[in-house]
Amino acid sequence: MPVDIQPDRVVLRHPAGASTTVLLYGATVISWIAPSHSGLASTSGLTERLDTPGGVPATASHDAAGIAPLGAAAQFKSSDAAPPSERLFVSSLASLDGTKPVRGGIPICWPIFGPPSRDEYKGLKQHGFARSSVWSYGETVLDAAEGVSARFVLQNSAETEKVFPQPFKLVYTVTLAEHQLTTSLRVYNTGAQPLTFQALLHNYFRGDAAVAQVQPLKGIGYVDKVRDGARDTEQRDTVDVRQYTDRVYETAGGAYTLSFPPSTHLSIKTHNLPDVTVWNPQETGSGMADMEPGGWERYVCVEPGYVARFVSLPGGGEWWGQQVLTVL
Ligand code: BG6
Repeated sequence: MPVDIQPDRVVLRHPAGASTTVLLYGATVISWIAPSHSGLASTSGLTERLDTPGGVPATASHDAAGIAPLGAAAQFKSSDAAPPSERLFVSSLASLDGTKPVRGGIPICWPIFGPPSRDEYKGLKQHGFARSSVWSYGETVLDAAEGVSARFVLQNSAETEKVFPQPFKLVYTVTLAEHQLTTSLRVYNTGAQPLTFQALLHNYFRGDAAVAQVQPLKGIGYVDKVRDGARDTEQRDTVDVRQYTDRVYETAGGAYTLSFPPSTHLSIKTHNLPDVTVWNPQETGSGMADMEPGGWERYVCVEPGYVARFVSLPGGGEWWGQQVLTVL
C-alpha cells in the first residue's frame, strides 16, 4: 500500500524501498528511509511539477537554488542502490502523541521562527504553532513508480485564533522518490489583511555530528545565537558542529551539501527559503527533557527558512517555499 493512511500518520512507500512517515501532529516528517546510491541525476522536475497547481512549473527554469526544470526527470541506476537506511534523527524520548513538538524529524516552524520577535506574535510559543497543531490529510497527489506524494492541510481555527488572529491556509506536500524527499509549504492568505510570517523546515539529519560538514557557507553573514545574537561572517570552507552551534545564515544561497564522511552525502536545494540555520547543542542538549542521552552526537540540524525577514502576503495572496533533499 504505497500511501498508507493511519489514524495519526500517513506512510508513503516507494517501490524501490524508500519510505517516509508523516505524523498528522505538526505534519512532522518523523522518518525518511532511503537507499544510498551513486547514480541519481535528478528527480526535481517531478517534485516541482507535483507541487505546482495545474502542473505548470512556476519557477522551473529560473530557480536560484538550481532546481532542475521539467524534463530533467529521474534517471535511476537502481542496481547501484545500497540497502535503505534512516536519514532523520528522532530522539527516543520524543513525544509522538501530540503532547509536545517532536524532538526530531522535520518540524515545521510557522508563523514564526524562534521566540516571538514582534509584539503581534507575543502570544505564540517558540517556532509558532504549526508544529504543534493537528493537520488533516488532504489528498494523495501521486502513487506511482516515479514517486509517491501526499498533501496535508492546516487552516485557522478557534484554537489558532486565540494566539494568531489572521485567517490562513497551509498546504504541505510531501513527495518521495527513490533517493529523494521533497517537502513544500504553501501559505494562502485567506483574509483581507496582510499576513506576515516566517517559515522554516527544521530538519534533524541523522549522522555522526563529530564528522558532519555543511557547505558552502563561506562568506555568508550570520547571527550567532550562541553569542547573544552577535553578527559575523563565516570564514570556513566547511562548517562543522563539533562545538555548540546555533547560527542563522542569512541569504545563504539556497543550495547546500551535508556530508557525514566517508559514506553519507546529502544535497539540500531550496526555493524561497533563503536563510539556513545550523544547530547542534552539544552538551547543552542534556537540558532538553526530550533529548535522549548523547542524542546531540547523532544528528545535525540544517534548517532552510525564510527567517531573517518576514514574508508579507497581501489579502488573497499565496507563497510557497520548498526543500528538495537528495541522497547523493
Ligand atoms: C533551532 C534554534 O532552530 O531550534 C535553536 O536555532 C533552538 O535556538 C532549536 O534551541 C530547538 O528549538 P526547540 O524549541 O525545538 O527546543
